[in-house]
Amino acid sequence: MQRTGYCATFGANDIGKRVKVCGWVQKMRDLGSLIFMDLRDRSGILQLAFDENTPKEVFDLAFGVRSEYVLSAEGVIRARGEGAVNPNLPTGSIEVAVDRLEVLSEAATPPFEVLNSMDVREEMRLKYRYLNLRHPELQKNIRFRHQLAKSARDYFDTEGFLEIETPILIKSTPEGARDYLVPSRVHPGSFYALPQSPQLYKQLLMVSGFDRYMQIAKCFRDEDLRADRQPEFTQLDLEMSFADEDDVMSVNEGFLKKVFREVLGIDLKTPLPRMPWKEAMENYGSDKPDVRFEMKLCDLSSILAACDFKVFSGAIAAGGSVRAINVKGVADRMSRKEIDKLTDFVKTYRAKGLAWLKGGEEKTSSYAKFLSEEENLAIEKAMNFEKGDVVFIVADASNQVVFDSLGALRCKCGEAYGFYDKKEFALLWVTEFPMFEKDEESGRYKAMHHPFTAPKDEDLALLDTAPEQVRAKAYDIIINGWEVGGGSVRIHRGDIQQRVFDIIGLSDEEAHEKFGFLLEAFRYGVPPHAGLAFGFDRLVSLLLGLDAIRDCIAFPKVQNACELMTDCPAPVPKESLDELQIAVCKEEE
Ligand code: AMO
Ligand code: AMP
Repeated sequence: MQRTGYCATFGANDIGKRVKVCGWVQKMRDLGSLIFMDLRDRSGILQLAFDENTPKEVFDLAFGVRSEYVLSAEGVIRARGEGAVNPNLPTGSIEVAVDRLEVLSEAATPPFEVLNSMDVREEMRLKYRYLNLRHPELQKNIRFRHQLAKSARDYFDTEGFLEIETPILIKSTPEGARDYLVPSRVHPGSFYALPQSPQLYKQLLMVSGFDRYMQIAKCFRDEDLRADRQPEFTQLDLEMSFADEDDVMSVNEGFLKKVFREVLGIDLKTPLPRMPWKEAMENYGSDKPDVRFEMKLCDLSSILAACDFKVFSGAIAAGGSVRAINVKGVADRMSRKEIDKLTDFVKTYRAKGLAWLKGGEEKTSSYAKFLSEEENLAIEKAMNFEKGDVVFIVADASNQVVFDSLGALRCKCGEAYGFYDKKEFALLWVTEFPMFEKDEESGRYKAMHHPFTAPKDEDLALLDTAPEQVRAKAYDIIINGWEVGGGSVRIHRGDIQQRVFDIIGLSDEEAHEKFGFLLEAFRYGVPPHAGLAFGFDRLVSLLLGLDAIRDCIAFPKVQNACELMTDCPAPVPKESLDELQIAVCKEEE
């Protein structure tokens, strides 16, 4: 069954050549005495032609062929007839005059046409993922993913990184999400966790002296899914010894520079800009700012602290703030209905309302009547308000709510009103994250990145006096408003690690139970070390310009974490549970 080559590798130069090709029938056109078929393999398509010169038994066989049949065809390549040339296809000027044909496999009528499969309902697409994957778009994405993985391996190999596999059945690694658990048969009642990341193992590899580690690692997190999140996903993970923030950033900038050049033909200017977390929040309302456009947040609190409008002054008095964005020049494109929609939108970020000022033919506003003339003028001045602009204001007792809602509104308006070129890329590092954040439920501190992240040297003293002000040696790489990767310098001093555990309320016992092996390992000589992990699916998606990471994953899961093709998760037979000594308590329906 040796093929001469893949379908789309032939061209006008091959006219007159005898070839054998194999693939799936994408389209069949039966014109009575003429039959044309598009034969598809992973390279693309090639037209097969059957006419009055075709041996009769071959013609008859071709006549019975349907969509998605698997064929092997032999014949001579010839130029297509006048008017039949398709300039949009690499093989558009040729066809194979088939004289031998074999049907290798028939195909039932597919539930959708492969070529339409990107437009059918998601459930259908994913239930028949293997058919959907025949689509050239997905073939391209999956192939690109392979190439990026290969580039990464090559690059990090050149930089002296060793690819080392870490286990999948492990003790829990904290990354802030829920673990997937795997019951142990040999130790009933005990469980493995699937890794949320290889974090602790890669640190141990530094203790072992491997110096530079990398891995394309599967990670598992039981968290709510979004377009950029899957319950199992892939990290391009790495760790370096005797390294600090600059070392990690520069080696990864080298990687991004190579990839952008090779894949997109873009010459990235390095070093990439760095923005402290606080600046990102203040200006963009987000720790992953999309800096392709301005529309920065503006703090109006000092203007409004003493105003009579309690929605504003009350929020400030309660420790929050009043902030605003100016969506420039869109007044004539933004209806009242649109503003109502945006009000509902910010409410999903817990904002209680959205005040606005619109510079249409007449100036209109939802709040002006509650403020003095000076206050209104001061807002306009602060916001650089001009005719045509729409200003949105959010007030809340929680700064986080103000940032979240305005940050999201900024991105939504930026996209909806075309404030940037979708083909453009804006990369930056966000740095100087706070070490700790308050858990809203318990009121306790928790590590913002993970508890092994080192505090900045100059903030060490604050660990005792003002933990909330301590900045971490942590960094995220942001591309077009997506957090594509993150990492940190790790703590390698026992006393500091102890302080951090104390602050997040981890008792000695708990720390020992959870991370005893790491703390123990650190007693035997640990190099200073630092690392980072890219979300590999996100990186692939961004470079391909995809909206959702599922389109670069061969077999993704849907919103409720199900895999529709194999229909999992699924119940297991009682015997399997018995063996594990597990009983499922189902609530009575
Ligand atoms: P972090 O938790 O920031 O860091 O994860 C690193 C990167 O992984 C990607 N990512 C995801 N991608 C798809 N689906 C998900 N559910 C998902 N969750 C995270 C993001 C993120 O930036 N061990 C540390 C890294 C380190 O400190 O070296 C870690 O896992 O792009
Ligand atoms: P009200 O007093 O509820 O009629 O609100 C007057 C205006 O203030 C309306 O445009 C509301 O949408 C807006 N508003 C209410 N709460 C907030 C808030 N937390 N932040 C910003 N604007 C708000």
